[in-house]
Amino acid sequence: MTIATSMSAPNPPFHGGRLHQAAQQFGIPVENWVDLSTGINPHSYPLPAVPRDVWQKLPDAGDNLLDIAATYYGSSHLLAVAGSQVAIEALPRLRSHSRVGILSPAYAEYAYHWKRQGHDVKELSVDELGAQIAYLDVVVVIRPNNPTAELLSYTLLKRWLSILQQSNGWLVIDEAFMDALPEGDEFSMITQEPEHGLIVLRSVGKFFGLAGIRLGFVWADPVLLATLAEQLTTWSVSSVARWAGAVALQDDNWTLLMRQRLAKESQQLCTLLAQYDFECVSTPLFCTVQLSTIQRQSVLCAYQYFAERGILIRNFEHLKAFRLGLPKNDMAWRQLEQALSELKT
Ligand SMILES: Cc1ncc(COP(=O)(O)O)c(C=O)c1O
Repeated sequence: MTIATSMSAPNPPFHGGRLHQAAQQFGIPVENWVDLSTGINPHSYPLPAVPRDVWQKLPDAGDNLLDIAATYYGSSHLLAVAGSQVAIEALPRLRSHSRVGILSPAYAEYAYHWKRQGHDVKELSVDELGAQIAYLDVVVVIRPNNPTAELLSYTLLKRWLSILQQSNGWLVIDEAFMDALPEGDEFSMITQEPEHGLIVLRSVGKFFGLAGIRLGFVWADPVLLATLAEQLTTWSVSSVARWAGAVALQDDNWTLLMRQRLAKESQQLCTLLAQYDFECVSTPLFCTVQLSTIQRQSVLCAYQYFAERGILIRNFEHLKAFRLGLPKNDMAWRQLEQALSELKT
């Protein structure tokens, strides 16, 4: 197995999407790969051509992006950032030494950046978080979680928030994968008015399949948003990202149809994996396979096995699991089916 990630290692976390590196390593041209290594929608929002003046002008914070985002997210208490990753990196800088509990396993960037700022970080299960909540200053929950797909209960989170609020604590909810859920608007922790200590991160890259434009939003109370804004560089969200985000976020029809399409395709992926005795948990944008003890012996090198067949997956060696994003077309589905069928023989 070629991937090694350790939560406590000081090295920056490993990510999916390193297609060129894999192409070189396995001697397969980039164009022949099926990249399933991320949870980014393969059916990107069909943006029209970028108008010439959008390329030409500087980003204008007074454009219509925030109004459109307010309608999409149901609140105007938003800050546009160059991908929710920017907030993941900046938030630890806004607090003095804190005891931080992260619902784990989780997107590894959280533990990495909170530790890097010298905070006392604990990576905890739901039960452990519940038991230790009174001793924590910050709790981070990804909802639905990446890679476990778990959607923690709203009632439980509200209870934790009320405890954290008593000592000026924070509850950070990462909703990067929320948009793709058919009930996403209902499940979101975003409310019209902000709540003290509650911070919600949203990503435009995942559901809209526009990770390249680097756009996300932070929802929180105005004081926190202002403090966070001070951490950002001038013009950090480009004119093109602002324009593209505004176009995509106001297309309700596309959003509705895409949610239906993704629900169908992720079901198709789980069904396909089940045919090969892989049990998976899923969100509409990815399926995570938990390997059984027997499978761990035969699929010891899942990453390598698929890569040798031109399929890039995201491996979680420490969890004995791997994650697949959705194939983008019939050819990609066939390539995946072929790789799975060879596995059985
Ligand atoms: C759970 C989670 N949150 C946030 C991000 C960052 O996304 P972006 O910066 O593109 O909004 C990722 C990226 O993979 C993620 O998995």
